[in-house]
Amino acid sequence: MNHSIKVTHHTYWLGANDHQTDLFESLWPLPKGVTYNCYLIDDEKTALIDTVKGPFLTQLVEKLKGLLGERPLDYLVVNHMEPDHSGAIKLLRCVYPQLKIIGNVQTKGMLENFYALTENIQIVKDGDTLDLGKHTLSFHLVPMVHWPETMVTYDHSTKTLFSCDAFGGFGSLDGGLFDDELDMQYYEDEVLRYFSNIVGRYSPQVQKAIEKLKGLDISIVAPSHGPIHRKNPGRIITLYDRWSRNETECGAVIVFGSMYGNTQKMAETVARAMAEEGIEKMAYHDISRSHVSYVVKDIWKYKGLILASCTYNTTLFPPMADLIMHLKNKMMKGRMVGILGSYSWSKGALAELQNFADSGDWELVQPTVEVKSAPFEEDLEKCMELGRKMAQKMKMCYVPGMK
Ligand SMILES: Cc1cc2nc3c(=O)[nH]c(=O)nc-3n(C[C@H](O)[C@H](O)[C@H](O)COP(=O)(O)O)c2cc1C
Ligand SMILES: [Fe+2]
Ligand SMILES: [Fe+2]
Repeated sequence: MNHSIKVTHHTYWLGANDHQTDLFESLWPLPKGVTYNCYLIDDEKTALIDTVKGPFLTQLVEKLKGLLGERPLDYLVVNHMEPDHSGAIKLLRCVYPQLKIIGNVQTKGMLENFYALTENIQIVKDGDTLDLGKHTLSFHLVPMVHWPETMVTYDHSTKTLFSCDAFGGFGSLDGGLFDDELDMQYYEDEVLRYFSNIVGRYSPQVQKAIEKLKGLDISIVAPSHGPIHRKNPGRIITLYDRWSRNETECGAVIVFGSMYGNTQKMAETVARAMAEEGIEKMAYHDISRSHVSYVVKDIWKYKGLILASCTYNTTLFPPMADLIMHLKNKMMKGRMVGILGSYSWSKGALAELQNFADSGDWELVQPTVEVKSAPFEEDLEKCMELGRKMAQKMKMCYVPGMK
């Protein structure tokens, strides 16, 4: 979209749809692209909330000129310094030399370190306000959601929360911009993929932020990626609250790493037992083929996790080792894990999975199963037992009929 879109009174979306970037942060696949949302408040004083990734500067300037003509841009509010939002700042300053940058103390340091910008920066503290005429903005620091300088901006006249990465997700917005215009099932799943892989490690800080923002009367949630929530702004806040509390659904993720199918057979047997016990929600991933970001997203969602790995050169199958590295980093809480390993001569995989299960806040469900080369009847019966135990424990955590 090469034009700006009205969000609410005097407030416009000037974001960019990025279809060129395959991997967000050079890590996370973008099958449907991503947006960098930024917003103009066109009042007596004009203020831009965040910018876009560097290569989209031309579009941004065109949109700004389209709205402002020859009028100046007075303020740029920098909620977050990650370059997907700050990449256009330096050159934007060349277009609008008088532009005053609003940020907190941490922002100031980063503006210098990233872009050598030191002049005409106004430092705000938590709760400070900025009067634009009819609109008054307030700034609320939410450190480590997910960088130290991160803050959110609230417009008191339109009750809009410019929440930056919080509540944002992957997926471009090619036409629809608001939650009442889009297939929100898809976008909510992508918000969870963004949350679980990028923000989830900082769940305690997300909780602090949600607590802090409780005093604000929010009609519109306008994040820096993905849809704007105007029909049901409470829903995305509730989802974020649940995810960052590590609230899970009654269901399980089965992840296997297998070259020749033996370990896969063990994983399938566990899944079969869970299905027989009535567990309907199961996500099944071949770790060689599912991208880790989708696996982590599903693990964040569900209470149960089954990890099955063959041994490869004395240790975990490499893509399983990668998943374990990601899981350790996320510091998830309140979930259950069952582990299965296979080997042919030296062992290795199961011991590594055991280390993982012992290292965090996971509840290890017994029995663990280790198989030499191929699983036979008694091994598969142990897999069934693990599946039944996992399912039964899970059912005890949830009231029947509820999620
Ligand atoms: C390249 C390669 C390296 C392996 N390295 C080990 C090893 O170091 N120790 C071991 O006990 N088994 C090792 N194995 C054997 C497998 O872990 C074992 O055969 C397992 O049952 C294979 O499971 P799968 O059929 O699910 O792929 C290796 C197999 C391959 C192909
Ligand atoms: Fe970010
Ligand atoms: Fe971002």
